[in-house]
Amino acid sequence: MKRSTINDIIRSSDDFIRSFGFLLPKFAYFTPETMIERRAELGGIIDARLGWDITDYGVGKFDEMGLFLFTVRNGDNAALKSGSGMLYAEKIMISRRDQISPMHRHILKAEDIINRGGAKLAIQMYESGPDGAIDDSLDVTVALDGITHTQKPGEILMLDPGDSVTLLPGNWHKFWGEGGDVLIGEVSTVNDDVTDNVFVEKIGRFSDIDEDEPPVHLLVADYDKWLK
Ligand SMILES: [Fe+2]
Repeated sequence: MKRSTINDIIRSSDDFIRSFGFLLPKFAYFTPETMIERRAELGGIIDARLGWDITDYGVGKFDEMGLFLFTVRNGDNAALKSGSGMLYAEKIMISRRDQISPMHRHILKAEDIINRGGAKLAIQMYESGPDGAIDDSLDVTVALDGITHTQKPGEILMLDPGDSVTLLPGNWHKFWGEGGDVLIGEVSTVNDDVTDNVFVEKIGRFSDIDEDEPPVHLLVADYDKWLK
């Protein structure tokens, strides 16, 4: 993706999020220069990979396959292994109309996917077989705001604003905005996007960036390079 496109997506996404009265924390608006200057005190942000995250899954067609995310908080895997401490994470995301987040499952992460406002959120789901791959003979059972719900393999769930689904490891899911753009909340177990996403298609989780202008804000994927 071009950096200029990423900068535009950051600006328009910030406007969209604010239109629902949801505000991002102050560190969201640090410039790259501020992050470099204040690097010593930002370990909690950088190590937990909090912040802006825009992906086209390496495919190069963001409008068709892509996702805007901002990780607001995140624990660490060591706490998860010990069973106590900061075991949770929160993201705010935007799926634009018909913009696909491709079929995937998580190995460790359980996640509540919440429609925070806008259009309907469409989620297609499958269950895993014993080898972890999609088993299209199995019905899918999930909790919808605590209420058990079973649907056919590959059926599309429609979440209205305010509604959520709890996805457990092994629940395969693909989602998009249906008829418009959707603000999505995610409340989950500790999040590790480097190791915990299993996709059906051979795609990546992060984008290749063409630096055609300076970044307005760093993406999480920039931290290793910019903030050593
Ligand atoms: Fe997911």
